[in-house]
Amino acid sequence: MLPEQQKFNQNVLTDKNQQALGQASLDAKQLLLLQQLSTSLSPLQLAWSSGYLAAKSEQVGVSISATPVQQQTKTASILTILYASQTGNTKGVATKLAAIASDAGIAVNLKNIADYKAKALKSESYLLIVSSTNGEGEVPDDALAFYEFLFSKKAPKLPNLKYSVLALGDSSYEFFCQTGKDFDERLTALGAKQVAPRLDCDVDYQQQASTWSANIVETLKDELTVDSTLADVVTLPTASVVESQYSKENPYVAELSLSQKITGRDSKKDVRHIEIDLGDSGLTYQVGDALGIYFENDAQLVDELIAALDFSADENVTVNGKEFTLAKALTTQLEITQTAPSFVEFWAKSSQDKALLALLDDKNALREFANTHQVVDVVSRAKSESITAQAFVDALRHITPRLYSIASSQSEVEDEVHLIVGIVAYQQGDKTRAGAASSFLGKRLEQGGKVKVFIEHNNNFRLPENPKTSVIMIGPGTGVAPFRAFMQEREALSDNGVELGKSWLFFGAQTFTQDFSYQVEWQNYLKSGLLTKLDVAFSRDQAEKVYVQNRLQENASEVYQWLEQGAHLYICGDANRMAKDVHQTLVNIIAEQGDKTTEQAETYLKILRTNKRYQKDVY
Ligand SMILES: Cc1cc2nc3c(=O)[nH]c(=O)nc-3n(C[C@H](O)[C@H](O)[C@H](O)COP(=O)(O)OP(=O)(O)OC[C@H]3O[C@@H](n4cnc5c(N)ncnc54)[C@H](O)[C@@H]3O)c2cc1C
Ligand SMILES: Cc1cc2nc3c(=O)[nH]c(=O)nc-3n(C[C@H](O)[C@H](O)[C@H](O)COP(=O)(O)O)c2cc1C
Repeated sequence: MLPEQQKFNQNVLTDKNQQALGQASLDAKQLLLLQQLSTSLSPLQLAWSSGYLAAKSEQVGVSISATPVQQQTKTASILTILYASQTGNTKGVATKLAAIASDAGIAVNLKNIADYKAKALKSESYLLIVSSTNGEGEVPDDALAFYEFLFSKKAPKLPNLKYSVLALGDSSYEFFCQTGKDFDERLTALGAKQVAPRLDCDVDYQQQASTWSANIVETLKDELTVDSTLADVVTLPTASVVESQYSKENPYVAELSLSQKITGRDSKKDVRHIEIDLGDSGLTYQVGDALGIYFENDAQLVDELIAALDFSADENVTVNGKEFTLAKALTTQLEITQTAPSFVEFWAKSSQDKALLALLDDKNALREFANTHQVVDVVSRAKSESITAQAFVDALRHITPRLYSIASSQSEVEDEVHLIVGIVAYQQGDKTRAGAASSFLGKRLEQGGKVKVFIEHNNNFRLPENPKTSVIMIGPGTGVAPFRAFMQEREALSDNGVELGKSWLFFGAQTFTQDFSYQVEWQNYLKSGLLTKLDVAFSRDQAEKVYVQNRLQENASEVYQWLEQGAHLYICGDANRMAKDVHQTLVNIIAEQGDKTTEQAETYLKILRTNKRYQKDVY
């Protein structure tokens, strides 16, 4: 620590001045501003500021020297809430939590964890972290730098910090709420004190998160300065675009204007180009954002499920405090195409089916079974005589909207939004099972039909701020969606005379003739020079499978050159295999071409990620 900074830290009030300054001490608003300013300063800036403030105070006749520690507890009156969100849920929870705390008169500092200087942790007294988990037990992009710091040797001891963690996750994943768990364990290891136990929430998180938020505010209220004048202190996250009145909680009822199959008749995949009219909603989006879609389940599947259960479609059940007929609840309120491990457990216990019960002893097998069987295929295995319709409904998850990467730019399509939707369909015995939202959008919804939508902003998948920066886009299958949006956006910039960097697209699909989505558009972009390079991999057009990662490897030297020259790297599409294989190939390329060890190559990519030069939109 610089001597000047040390001096700054000790510079608080003398006994002599305490009384006078007690009257003039900072109110919570000023304190918050000062704290925000000081956490954003470098050590040198801090030192300079301390000198500046000291000189200022001397001008008005107040001298400052070393002092008792208790004065420093002033910062204890601020509650810092950090959120680490990938797809927006956590941000919503944290924003509500901040509002509850603010209403209770607590001074709140609400921040996206990406905008928080981790070094400021040592001067925090109260911290709540609301975090989701991404990838397979991975940290959301926004939390990468904070996470790295917290787990590094540089992390300070935090004996004066009181904290808790609210973790969002999905129990269908092996590493449930892993990031929240990691934060919790690490903060304890650094000496921080948990003020309330961590809460791990599954996909139906709203109710539990609200209760936890209310309880924690109640717990902290007495310890934190309570002052009714502070209600407006919450620093809400700065949105990069003007927020619309429509949101996930209040979706816009849009119209489906076009749904067109873009894979050939002989393709094994059914991929749709979808156009949705946003009308006069005023909804705006940036390229890289996603569209949230609410859907209804297939009426035929609902009938099949009710028949398998021997229930009556007209029977009344309650969901979220509201009454519905069973058929309506299963169509509009509850997930029946995705099965949670907790539902399999529920059904195993109520049916006492031996095979299902055996699954309960093997968590991996249970998860795998849940991931590959719809609710109807679980209940058809074994009857449960005693179960009521209400108990059955209570064991299901509530519908969550699905996200689709936006495949258009508003500079090209104005009030429309385009999507590329792969319809999920597979065989289960003699039945064809379909994904709920993809088949709703691509098959059941007629053109002109209504669909509830909202924009999910994604600041972790953005074109470089400087248009002269080159981009490498890796997007096989429906993963190409955001890159169509990127190209439309760059075309509009180019039409306005903006000079652009190079762009390189890696696209992959099964066959050239049946599956080359938007082939004409890519070729036109190539012709106009807007797209500098296009490399395609059609896995089934030759005896040996070829994927985008093979094309990357074949172009290793040039890929590395682009990266060295500052190109931004994007991956979109399948998270399970593609994104991992591409990542591994990138590690190999960087190690080979840059003469690095695997570890150094991983660090190279980590630095790119932290600098937002390596962004992923994978699912
Ligand atoms: C940020 C983001 C962006 C996305 N962008 C796009 C996009 O641009 N285009 C796109 O098409 N999708 C995209 N998705 C995926 C999309 O949100 C949905 O997850 C997808 O459409 C499936 O939803 P569904 O409701 O149709 O299927 P669901 O009803 O959710 O059914 C899926 C279920 O079926 C199971 N299943 C699937 N295949 C099989 C099989 N062969 N055997 C047994 N079980 C199986 C799965 O395990 C899963 O549980 C994106 C997702 C995210 C998070
Ligand atoms: C691609 C993807 C990967 C995910 N991986 C995990 C995981 O490994 N563990 C987990 O508990 N939840 C996982 N989730 C679920 C999210 O954590 C959960 O949906 C959460 O509510 C998202 O919050 P957010 O929108 O703030 O990011 C994943 C979700 C997605 C879309």
